[in-house]
Amino acid sequence: MGIKRIAVLTSGGDCSGMNAAIRAVVRAALAEGLEVVGVQKGYHGLIDNHFQPLDTRSVSNMLQRGGTFLQSARCREMYEEPGQQLAAENLAALGVQGLVVIGGDGSLRGALALTRRGMPVIGIPASIDNDIPFTDMSLGVDTALNNIIYAVDCLKDTASSHDRAFVVETMGRNCGYLAVAAAIASGAEVTLLPEAPYDIAEVCSHLRRRFDEGRSNSIIMVAEGAGNGQKIAEQIKDAIGFETRVMILGHYQRGGSPSAFDRILAARFGVGAVEALLAGERGKMLGLAAGGLKLTPLEQVIEAGKRPIDQIMLSLSQVLGI
Ligand code: F6P
Repeated sequence: MGIKRIAVLTSGGDCSGMNAAIRAVVRAALAEGLEVVGVQKGYHGLIDNHFQPLDTRSVSNMLQRGGTFLQSARCREMYEEPGQQLAAENLAALGVQGLVVIGGDGSLRGALALTRRGMPVIGIPASIDNDIPFTDMSLGVDTALNNIIYAVDCLKDTASSHDRAFVVETMGRNCGYLAVAAAIASGAEVTLLPEAPYDIAEVCSHLRRRFDEGRSNSIIMVAEGAGNGQKIAEQIKDAIGFETRVMILGHYQRGGSPSAFDRILAARFGVGAVEALLAGERGKMLGLAAGGLKLTPLEQVIEAGKRPIDQIMLSLSQVLGI
């Protein structure tokens, strides 16, 4: 029996480009004569039966909007057997023969659980952290980076007007990709990541030397998981006496209109997911590899854990931070 109806959901932390990906899934599916059902609030909607039919009208004017109109959630029940079972049963009762899950690591774990219960699932990696393995870029990363560099460009104007150091804290609980990429793109002097141990005394003497050379303002880019931005700013101020201010970028990074890169990536992932389901693929995640799309079994993605930090990026940020 061929596929007649598919469902799509967004799960975990939202990111920009999710709406564009839903749109691509819906349009690609409709073009193939399939029906599409949207699941509201991620896996919560699967467990509580919150569905809505999606047609071209549902996704019109969505391409450029940040967030996700289906809404998203982190769903604890989906980590447990009963929740997973109920979600699979509800999907089957709805007559769905394929599911597209757009989200991060936890969302892909849920996708694997549903695959093991017989539901064909294709995952689309979406998380500003860029911590998902087997894809060079996840959806939302590029937009978040652009948000960060816009903020840092603004900070540099005021930092240079006052001879100040600014500690900028990016998101990334366990992963420093955003911080290191933003550091390179915005010209930060120091980059602190959860993956790379650092000595605050060395950071301070580096800043001291720069100030002694007459370079009187600095940006210290700190990934959320590498330490508390406020505390690091106080340590710098106490050690070398510079006026130091803090900018915790927080959820600002996740919103806004998606960049051209994220819109195009969303289009490729969304259409790719529908094509994969129609080709009989199941239990796999789409990824961007060497410019092309690649499918990787979800087991492999989950087993691999977090994507390691790119050492070349790290050394670039250090070389350029002198
Ligand atoms: O995983 C994405 C992310 O934005 C992390 O960078 C951050 O630590 C976390 O989500 C914040 O989660 P919440 O939106 O639940 O506060």
